[in-house]
Amino acid sequence: MISFWAFFSWLLVVCGSTVCPCERPELCQQIREERDFEVFVFDVGGKTWKSYNWSMVTTVAAFGKYDAELMCYAHSKGARVVLKGDVPLSYIVDQANRTAWITEKVNLAKSQCMDGINIDIEQAVEKDSPEYHALSDLVKETTEAFHREIPGSQVSFDVAWSPKCIDKRCYDYVTIAESCDLLFVMSYDEQSQITGDCIAMANAPVRQTLRAYDEYLDLKINPKKLVMGVPWYGYDYPCVNLSQEGTCYIAKVPFRGAPCSDAAGRQKTYKWIMKQVNSSSSGRQWDDEQKAPYFYYKDQKGQIHQVWYDDPQSICPKANLVKAKGLKGIGMWNGNILDYSDEPVAKQQAAMMWNALLGC
Ligand SMILES: *[C@@H]1O[C@H](CO)[C@@H](O)[C@H](O)[C@H]1NC(C)=O
Ligand SMILES: *[C@@H]1O[C@H](CO)[C@@H](O)[C@H](O)[C@H]1NC(C)=O
Ligand SMILES: *[C@@H]1O[C@H](CO)[C@@H](O)[C@H](O)[C@H]1NC(C)=O
Ligand SMILES: *[C@@H]1O[C@H](CO)[C@@H](O)[C@H](O)[C@H]1NC(C)=O
Repeated sequence: MISFWAFFSWLLVVCGSTVCPCERPELCQQIREERDFEVFVFDVGGKTWKSYNWSMVTTVAAFGKYDAELMCYAHSKGARVVLKGDVPLSYIVDQANRTAWITEKVNLAKSQCMDGINIDIEQAVEKDSPEYHALSDLVKETTEAFHREIPGSQVSFDVAWSPKCIDKRCYDYVTIAESCDLLFVMSYDEQSQITGDCIAMANAPVRQTLRAYDEYLDLKINPKKLVMGVPWYGYDYPCVNLSQEGTCYIAKVPFRGAPCSDAAGRQKTYKWIMKQVNSSSSGRQWDDEQKAPYFYYKDQKGQIHQVWYDDPQSICPKANLVKAKGLKGIGMWNGNILDYSDEPVAKQQAAMMWNALLGC
């Protein structure tokens, strides 16, 4: 006779101490395998993850509500699911608070059968301040705790598109890179601090984007620690006036010491952009200087907007750099914002955006 307890403990195949929510209990086991190439996806919630190209995905950073179904599915594809980590830096200067925060995150990851954490701290930090050192310590101690408590787990850290104190984020990039498994380089929002003319520009102009990777590599950061992040969203700017050459002047919205910023625009999903570009007055235009597409449209009040975005043509040269420089991989903000409907045009557009991640 199968004893009740044997049966019961079979049911209780655990991650942490909760019952495994997956159909097959082994799917609650954390992923240990090291991948040669990372495709790192930020997921902000909902169920569109079902339409991801899972033959590529290696890590999903779960920024939405915890979704056990996503965890089980990712594990069935050999992909990691990692927590989001964010905390006010003033709070973790204190060692005891830092340790408490890390312990809480490790326990949460364990109880949800997750495979690591993505630390997304985008706060301004002054060089050599207490927060500067506390941040480096936080990354190091988080990595040690995760690796110890969840073997094979992954700790990543999100950095700005360039290491040159972008948005007053003056971190110790070298120490942080050495202390974690990978840096996700957010190669977007590159107009967060506009110091020249207040005009609409590309979210991630190609030349500037690529040059910034040399800045990271010049610091002697191992290219195998770098994952390139590309935008699957764009910016919609209302033009306060439009020059004859088509330059779109934008409202002056300061950000972290700069007089103008992309905060004058609104972030728009690739799904929205693909719908809007067809009904726009200009159709898709191409800027050969920034190597990015854009278009104009007129809103219901008659105001002209200029929309800058990325598509397979602008992503392609960036993705090629990943191979050329031997970076660890590529990813996007965010995975959910393509049009995953069954329309043939949408399906093709979504497939092309995924495939562009592998270069051309
Ligand atoms: C530690 O955390 C507590 C809240 O739990 C907070 O009130 C306190 O200010 C923190 N300590 C330091 C030194 O930041
Ligand atoms: C548009 O506005 C900007 C700043 O408000 C100004 O510098 C520029 O000359 C204007 N251009 C045109 C064509 O009116
Ligand atoms: C946009 O227009 C192109 C060219 O006219 C067409 O092939 C495509 O189906 C349209 N896309 C959508 C989403 O309507
Ligand atoms: C998913 O990606 C693979 C490359 O890893 C590609 O061969 C395949 O065609 C993609 N699937 C779809 C539906 O586009």
